[in-house]
Amino acid sequence: MTKIDVLLGLQWGDEGKGKIVDVLTPNYDVVARFQGGPNAGHTLEFNGMKHVLHIIPSGIFHKDKINLIGNGVLIEPRIFRQEIEELAAKGVDATQNLFVSKKAHLILPSHRMMDAANEQAKGNMKIGSTLKGIGPAYTDKIARSGIRVGDTLSTDFRERYELLKEQHVRQAQTLGFDIAAFRIDGMSLEEYEKVWMESLETLKRFRMVNSEYFINQCLKEDKKVLAEGAQAMMLDIDFGTYPFVTSSNTITAGVCTGLGVAPSAIGRVMGITKAYCTRVGAGPFPTELFDETGHRLCELGHEYGATTGRPRRCGWIDIPALRYACMINGVTELYVTKPDVMNDFETVSMCTAYDVNGELTGEIPFEYNTLPIEPVLTNYKGWQQSLQGISEYAALPEALKDYLAAIEKQTGVRIAAVSISPDRKDVLFK
Ligand code: GDP
Ligand code: IMO
Ligand code: MG
Repeated sequence: MTKIDVLLGLQWGDEGKGKIVDVLTPNYDVVARFQGGPNAGHTLEFNGMKHVLHIIPSGIFHKDKINLIGNGVLIEPRIFRQEIEELAAKGVDATQNLFVSKKAHLILPSHRMMDAANEQAKGNMKIGSTLKGIGPAYTDKIARSGIRVGDTLSTDFRERYELLKEQHVRQAQTLGFDIAAFRIDGMSLEEYEKVWMESLETLKRFRMVNSEYFINQCLKEDKKVLAEGAQAMMLDIDFGTYPFVTSSNTITAGVCTGLGVAPSAIGRVMGITKAYCTRVGAGPFPTELFDETGHRLCELGHEYGATTGRPRRCGWIDIPALRYACMINGVTELYVTKPDVMNDFETVSMCTAYDVNGELTGEIPFEYNTLPIEPVLTNYKGWQQSLQGISEYAALPEALKDYLAAIEKQTGVRIAAVSISPDRKDVLFK
């Protein structure tokens, strides 16, 4: 029996997970998503084309590979249909190699309304959700009132749908939310519901599987499986910067519950980190830069959300957070992305500890959201040259290699590869 490899983000998302999955897919037979849903935006670039995936695994462009949407994932049928149609327009027929777990939960239009209603009710404490319905749909899953993909085939589906929707309408009314004014993509709840129901028919055309049996059978047959994480460590519902997190377990442990594999079946754990750090939405971010450097990282890195288009907050790489991520996830190797964004920087800084009221700590404190945390920075000489055309790790500028070596030393985890452009071809394995 072979083991399942895991690839996940170590920061606050958007580390370049989609790109690295796409690059690694030729080494695998199956790529499987295990949590999250359309809140994710995974960007792939090759042959001068850019593709953004939300629910569909990033192995989909390799047509001989199976892509699986696991039980831990949330599916919004209309967004799913849009992705399928976009792929079809690019000549990718996903109906052949995309399987969907019967146990994956559905995001209803009224879940999306509740996301907006909850955010509005939170006022200053709002999370900055992507408003795709993630929190409310996982809430219903845990409350045991959710609806799963497999349930769409049952005769009482519509009845259950209406019941759940009514519940949401009552909740929204209690919160004083203006349901009549609510819009999704310019459509009222009723209008969107119609499109959503039609989209369900597209979803039903895909192979619905008991994915836990499917995955375990693959492992038994020594097929190679890669679990693709969405969001990231610091957005994890248990260990992230709660309450400014997403509503799923984004960590390695989430692979066990989100796909139905035993902890002993976990193999390599590949952690993705940018050479700096970004965050989109509200919540603590100790190394955030509010100055010209932060602005440069945002502009040079094109740091605008792949799902919402919002500008991402930018700052230096955060070693205490990375170490925490390596510990919680059992990271066996690091992939570092986007050092090229800092090509022109004279100095590149790294936060190696936090100064909390004069005391140094390398730990993430419980009071992360409220304590005054000052990052303790170590400066590194910038490499000040383009990385374009470099095709081997060894040929990277010495100053960049020093910086990367410092990341390895600080985290105690080896770097497997570095990505130096958005393109599929620019990943240098060490
Ligand atoms: P994901 O959510 O982790 O898959 O990451 P996103 O796709 O949301 O954001 C990563 C962004 O960085 C995308 O626009 C990628 O095309 C881009 N990207 C990925 N790797 C690199 C890299 O090494 N250099 C540069 N400049 N851009 C990269
Ligand atoms: P990928 O997979 C970055 C953030 C949102 C918000 C919080 C909760 O592309 O890395 P949610 O919609 O889940 O209720 O939002 O989490 N967030 C992400 N930030 N990348 C993502 O996904 C994210 N998915 C959610 O901005 O702060
Ligand atoms: Mg993203």
